[in-house]
Amino acid sequence: MALRLRNGTEVVIRPIRPGDKAMLARGMAALSPRSARLRFLAPKDHLTLSELRYLTEVDDIDHYALVAVLAEDPSSLAGVGRWVRDAERPADAEVAVVVADCLQGEGLGTALGEALADGARTRGIARFTALMLPENTAAQRLFAHISGRLSTRVEGGTYELVADLAA
Ligand SMILES: CC(C)(COP(=O)(O)OP(=O)(O)OC[C@H]1O[C@@H](n2cnc3c(N)ncnc32)[C@H](O)[C@@H]1OP(=O)(O)O)[C@@H](O)C(=O)NCCC(=O)NCCS
Repeated sequence: MALRLRNGTEVVIRPIRPGDKAMLARGMAALSPRSARLRFLAPKDHLTLSELRYLTEVDDIDHYALVAVLAEDPSSLAGVGRWVRDAERPADAEVAVVVADCLQGEGLGTALGEALADGARTRGIARFTALMLPENTAAQRLFAHISGRLSTRVEGGTYELVADLAA
């Protein structure tokens, strides 16, 4: 899917592939410490080989992931989003999205979230859950675009947001 962001940047959203490991590793290395902490809920500056395998070799049924790449340079990562089905509650999936720092606030996170929700509904997912730090208002607003029915649980120092995906 091709998409023009608010700042005019053109991106393409497509399913992640095993061949995306190097691109993902570069994207992680380029991420600011703040964005990495908001995404992984802890400081993180690189992905190990086993993490790269887990993140790129997805089955498309219980683990669904999309990348957004620059249309003019498809080896440049603009964003990544994924959901992983809960093994005990198969209608629930945990979702996470991250957008390259220089492209945040341009609508890409919402577009990835909506595409993830479309993929989830067709695979029998009824609810997204997302863990986030309480100060992450961008993520909270992103989920408000995906679902009109949101609830929040506080778990220690993090928020668990639950988004009902009913059509
Ligand atoms: C959260 C994140 C994915 C949102 O993606 P994005 O492309 O920046 O988001 P969008 O441009 O689609 O905007 C989504 C909402 O967040 C708001 N927003 C964006 N950046 C913001 C910021 N720095 N502070 C506050 N709100 C912000 C937007 O205004 C928009 O809300 P609105 O439409 O009600 O005005 C992105 O900021 C990011 O990668 N953050 C670091 C990783 C992370 O926090 N991941 C979420 C873990 S689940």
